[in-house]
Amino acid sequence: MNTVGNDIRITLWGSSHGSHIGCVLEGVRGGLELDTGRIAAEMSLRRPSPGIGTPRREDDEVLFLSGVTEGITNGDPISIMIANKDTRSKDYEQFRHRPRPGHADLTAIIRNPNHDIRGGGMFSGRMTAPLVAAGAVCRLGLEEQGVDVGAFTRGIGDVSDPQQRVLDDCRDSRSFDSRACNKELDERMVKAIMSASSEGDSLGGVVECQVENLPIGVGEPWFDTLDGELAKNMFSIPAMRAFEIGDGILSSRSRGSVMNDPFSLTGNEVFTTTNHHGGVLGGRSSGMPLVFRCFFKPTPSISKVQSTVDLESMKNVQLKIEGRHDPCIVPRAVAVVEAMTCHCIYDMMSRGGFLEN
Ligand SMILES: Cc1cc2nc3c(=O)[nH]c(=O)nc-3n(C[C@H](O)[C@H](O)[C@H](O)COP(=O)(O)O)c2cc1C
Repeated sequence: MNTVGNDIRITLWGSSHGSHIGCVLEGVRGGLELDTGRIAAEMSLRRPSPGIGTPRREDDEVLFLSGVTEGITNGDPISIMIANKDTRSKDYEQFRHRPRPGHADLTAIIRNPNHDIRGGGMFSGRMTAPLVAAGAVCRLGLEEQGVDVGAFTRGIGDVSDPQQRVLDDCRDSRSFDSRACNKELDERMVKAIMSASSEGDSLGGVVECQVENLPIGVGEPWFDTLDGELAKNMFSIPAMRAFEIGDGILSSRSRGSVMNDPFSLTGNEVFTTTNHHGGVLGGRSSGMPLVFRCFFKPTPSISKVQSTVDLESMKNVQLKIEGRHDPCIVPRAVAVVEAMTCHCIYDMMSRGGFLEN
């Protein structure tokens, strides 16, 4: 239910305005040295930037309650806990009977009348904080296998990055609030977010993720394919609406002679001279960089007046949303996409017997 993964499992708990949120990360080997500075750096990339993110301020200090002894994993389940300190729950009570269009309020309340509505409860983007911490631990495990993961903002609203990008660009994006790859794109994306926000509206966009140095063959047939498992991890991120691997959508309008990536050799190493397939063939890694995109919808909580229903009076009503929200989820979602990718790849490598150690 709230668990993802097979060998490396994340079980998520908590709610947006509860005292704490956290997760239990199971299956990580003992002996991994946790670099708390790097984990804090990953957390800061998920934090909202002034002007283009929610004004809610959380320090997101990550506490490891178990599974770590003197900074080194001990092989036990790793309990991760983060405090919620900056909550304003009164803004949310009305959504119990007047659900926000585009948000999870309606489905949550109908399925469970006791749902914790404060801050969106368990459906809040806040829940992605422990996922980023768990992903940072998985990243340390991947690095010792030589596997590198990065992501950046490919587009926000109608501002789109047309260039082909590599992992160095993903690293560069860490310096920019929008997580675009350069200053010019960052300025245009920030401006687009601010413009939508000033009109009481929100924007969606696209995160691209890349993984390098995966060995050939990671992924299990039929139903636990690498692309299938990646999609599952990505769709667990709130507001994620579509998943594309390689030239996925373009390929549906193209020809085999264009989309088939020719094989070639460097010494005894097989590679493809192009990468339309995005690094997965037959549900398994091909040895080429994994390239996929996650498409996010605009933030549902906007301050424009919207139509909804009142579930007590059973009347159509108008809703004005107060409270603090991200006018665009995308810049913060980049860190979450990276984290869930680190988790998925680490899990799939373990399942396929690829982890050396
Ligand atoms: C990092 C992050 C931050 C988010 N912030 C907000 C927010 O401030 N306001 C909001 O209405 N939704 C926000 N969301 C999106 C909602 O959580 C999401 O749309 C909602 O739970 C419904 O789920 P669905 O869009 O996947 O159907 C955020 C999502 C993420 C990943």
